[in-house]
Amino acid sequence: MPRLIAPVVVSAILFSAAGLSAQDSSPPKVPLGLPPLSVPKDNPQTPAKIALGKQLYFDKRLSRDNTVACASCHDPAKGWSNGERFATGVRGQVGGRSAPTIINAAYWPLQFWDGRAKHLEGQALGPIANSIEMDLTIKEAVERLNKIEGYKKQFQAVFGSDATGETLAKAIASFERTVLSGDAPYDRFKAGDKSALSEAAQRGMTVFFKKANCTACHGGGNFSDGAFHNAGIGMDAKEPDVGRFAVTKLLGDRGSFRTPTLREIGRTAPYMHDGSLKTLEDVVEHYVKGGIKNPQLDEEIFSLRLDAKQQADLVTFLKEGLSSKSYPMIKAPELPK
Ligand code: HEC
Ligand code: HEC
Repeated sequence: MPRLIAPVVVSAILFSAAGLSAQDSSPPKVPLGLPPLSVPKDNPQTPAKIALGKQLYFDKRLSRDNTVACASCHDPAKGWSNGERFATGVRGQVGGRSAPTIINAAYWPLQFWDGRAKHLEGQALGPIANSIEMDLTIKEAVERLNKIEGYKKQFQAVFGSDATGETLAKAIASFERTVLSGDAPYDRFKAGDKSALSEAAQRGMTVFFKKANCTACHGGGNFSDGAFHNAGIGMDAKEPDVGRFAVTKLLGDRGSFRTPTLREIGRTAPYMHDGSLKTLEDVVEHYVKGGIKNPQLDEEIFSLRLDAKQQADLVTFLKEGLSSKSYPMIKAPELPK
């Protein structure tokens, strides 16, 4: 059956032409201040794969009625979030949690506010199949893609096969892994450029790292410990979102959510898993009060003695210090037909 053999040979050639080999998993370069980024061994980054993932990320054809793409809720122009309290999917359906930014999501070993998915590859198919978000079975999504000549060709070139659920997830994850923010005024200041931060931001930095205890959870290059904590958000509701508890069933995890990154935080309002805090001033006020009392409130959350000036300086540090000039402002690419 020569018809079967020929495509295999062709794809083998394309496979090596695309530079896809076991040796190709050298870690990507990351902006100043970010920790080294590890890439799964079975999904090395290549330019062709990243380009494919970028198209898929912006393509509304991955939703039931062709109205919603990943970029609809994670929009580069809105801090890679959506600027709203909750996320709106197909048929105007609204979910119960706010859309986190994709920026630096490559660093999360556990994805989602409650950590229910592993790695970007493990996350990417979720929203497509979710009936509120994009509402397309993976089987249907893959069938759609393989009917589009431009996609079929790229999947063949990059993976040596038609689109499958696995390769779809791998391509999107590879693109997301390039959405990074570092090299902010804070990093430059730390690297020795004393003019990189205003005086107010410098004072705010001291408040952040010392008096306000923020780094108990928002430490390290990505300003997160990657762990789950109860900061009291939403815990005064009648039936609070139990967060991490739904995954682990451990009582201590009730109302816990993964510590978000604070990079580009000036662009991703509103804040928290339920988008309940509109501004960074509101966030700081929440912490100054000592969070919202509840039995599982994290012991690192307690009322803070910060005067009005210190609070304002802290906000200035967050906004000015962690917004990068090389913000990943990626435009939607042309989509294949
Ligand atoms: C309808 C809006 C919507 C669409 C469309 C959507 N997302 Fe999301 N996304 C969300 C919400 C809301 C969450 C948080 C859900 C949770 O934690 O329970 C989320 C979480 C994530 C996370 C986890 C980030 C983190 O900080 O843990 C990633 C990564 C992600 N989405 C990528 C994608 C990709 C890739 C697509 C397209 C295939 C997509 N999203 C489509 C709303 C959306
Ligand atoms: C005990 C750990 C902990 C401490 C201490 C802490 N945070 Fe948080 N932070 C979190 C968690 C967890 C969330 C998400 C909470 C939620 O949505 O329920 C969060 C959310 C935030 C957000 C919103 C991020 C977003 O994308 O929505 C900001 C801003 C923030 N924290 C700033 C600070 C500042 C400033 C301090 C110091 C005053 C601080 N945090 C102290 C754990 C902590």
